[in-house]
Amino acid sequence: DKGTYPYYMLKEIDEQPNVMRKLAQMYLQESGKTNVEPELVAAIKEADRIHIVGAGTSYHAGLVGRKLFEKLTHTPTEVHVASEFAYEKPLLGEKPFFIFLSQSGETADSREVLVNVNAENYKSLTITNVQNSTLSREATFTMLLNAGPEISVASTKAYTAQIAVEAILAKAVGMAKEQVIAEEFDLRQQLGLVATGMQAIIDEKEEIEDLAKEYFVDASRAFYIGRGIDHTVSLEAALKLKEISYVQAEGFAAGELKHGTIALIEEGTPVVGIITQDNTASLTRSNLQETLSRGAKIITIVRQALAKDDDTIVIPDVDEMITPLLSVIPAQLLAYYTSLNKGLDVDRPRNLAKSVTVE
Ligand code: F6R
Repeated sequence: DKGTYPYYMLKEIDEQPNVMRKLAQMYLQESGKTNVEPELVAAIKEADRIHIVGAGTSYHAGLVGRKLFEKLTHTPTEVHVASEFAYEKPLLGEKPFFIFLSQSGETADSREVLVNVNAENYKSLTITNVQNSTLSREATFTMLLNAGPEISVASTKAYTAQIAVEAILAKAVGMAKEQVIAEEFDLRQQLGLVATGMQAIIDEKEEIEDLAKEYFVDASRAFYIGRGIDHTVSLEAALKLKEISYVQAEGFAAGELKHGTIALIEEGTPVVGIITQDNTASLTRSNLQETLSRGAKIITIVRQALAKDDDTIVIPDVDEMITPLLSVIPAQLLAYYTSLNKGLDVDRPRNLAKSVTVE
């Protein structure tokens, strides 16, 4: 029941702070220990490579996860688009470990990969929102997102819950591997900061609606740009805008734009820069300037510590490894309000189904 909300999507965006608190409580002890199945931690600990598999938004959550697993567990990690796995088959080492990300647990493209993984007797984990879903039943291990039902076709709280669970798991494995960075990563406290930070952004949603009206409602195309982890969020931000507002949007590596795509920037083209990392902030800012001088209208989503006076949306400070949990929130709201103000059916965009059970 969506209660007083006009659409499920807004309700689900609003639920994210609580999902973060719940996941912290479920999986993280005050002492810094994690409540993750020891057999699961042991299986990933001995893996020579982690392979994350997902589709759409879940794939995008995997791109963030890759960085978390590599930093916190020091295990080489790859991310695969489920429907491409069979044709881009990675060369597997002795001990691969597979992580399936799927909100519904029913996505046929991901299931097809899991069937093959099982045929080779490799160990696997499904991170899903649906207990007893197909992908959960067929994998060796399951971790639940506990985000509550996600009804809106555009995925929001599943993306942030997937990233939080990946961070929890990476911390657990990193601690088992005695990685100092994992031991020192106070994720319980960080998820508390994330919850408060999400709420602060959501509380400013009227301002984000004004931006959606000013920049996107009449636009035919838009760009999100960023570097590194911000690039992965730009892909998710663009997908959200495309699927519910039908604005053709592209997420782009900020430095790659000038190698061709900048030709698409015209007078008034909206370009959103995501800036949350110390080492890329000034470079992404110069790339934004390049689009500005070609007529782009710019929005910035910037982490507080890096913010300047003329930035558009400032998000609270959290550890650099988990900034996607906050930088995606304004993008979700921009997509929501663009769709709403275009008079579209936010929860049920054309041509899409909530769970894609064909290959
Ligand atoms: C986008 C969206 C889709 C799903 C994708 C995978 O908002 O919802 O891209 O993320 O179809 O679905 P799951 O996670 O259920 O496997």
